[in-house]
Amino acid sequence: MGKIVCIIGNKGGTGKTTLSHLIAHGLGAFGLRAVAMLTDQLRDKLSKQNRNYLPFDARSADQLALAAAKLRATAGWIGVIDGGGNRPDVDRRLAALSDLVLLPFRDSHEDMRAVRGDLERFPQAWALPSQWPTNAWAAASASRAVDAMLAIHKDRLLAPVYAVSATKLLLMDAPPPRLPRAVDNAAREIALQVIELLGLPAPEADWTAAYARAADGGPPPGARAPSVLHA
Ligand SMILES: Nc1ncnc2c1ncn2[C@@H]1O[C@H](COP(=O)(O)OP(=O)(O)OP(=O)(O)O)[C@@H](O)[C@H]1O
Ligand SMILES: [Mg+2]
Repeated sequence: MGKIVCIIGNKGGTGKTTLSHLIAHGLGAFGLRAVAMLTDQLRDKLSKQNRNYLPFDARSADQLALAAAKLRATAGWIGVIDGGGNRPDVDRRLAALSDLVLLPFRDSHEDMRAVRGDLERFPQAWALPSQWPTNAWAAASASRAVDAMLAIHKDRLLAPVYAVSATKLLLMDAPPPRLPRAVDNAAREIALQVIELLGLPAPEADWTAAYARAADGGPPPGARAPSVLHA
């Protein structure tokens, strides 16, 4: 039986579309079969060219139901649904058919207020810091904002997806055949978190490497709050 992940949330521009492709790309890099499912009426479907996953047009309710049923019936496939912002009713339906619900938010008080509401609406969902700052000063300030605004949900915070400007290449109709290493690495990191949260077996070589980094003082794969709250 396949698995379904959805990336939703009430706030626009948090990185849902980018994350759906980044996660699908990372799953593909681990040899898993992923489908990036578009449900946002305002976006066009992207081509399959130069991708290690399948973009699928699920903008109509029929297409979405068909894709979800197919995923459920087919072992080994993972569907990653791009929710599209500002559609609370659609978000509820997507969350109901998913095994894993991700709520991205950026380093802004407005995003954090919105994700706090979404965390309360979706008690099984995880908050995912998105487009997170890498600069030390900005990261410390973001961490303080998370401490102040999301402390009660700190057990539901995933390790951040950092700002990598080249992630926009994934949203080209046909991305270049090779993506910058920063994109590949970001894709693998978030895909590992997703694999762990879905309870799927870890891709062994990369898992071992990630734990070796953790032994050197880095965060373990799938690390929760510490990498955000104590940056
Ligand atoms: N990790 C990232 N690093 C750098 N830029 C990013 C990252 N993720 C998203 N962005 C940029 O942020 C902007 C918004 O991203 P995206 O379109 O994925 O958000 P969205 O949540 O799907 O928006 P909408 O609510 O409009 O559907 C885009 O310009 C995208 O390139
Ligand atoms: Mg979008």
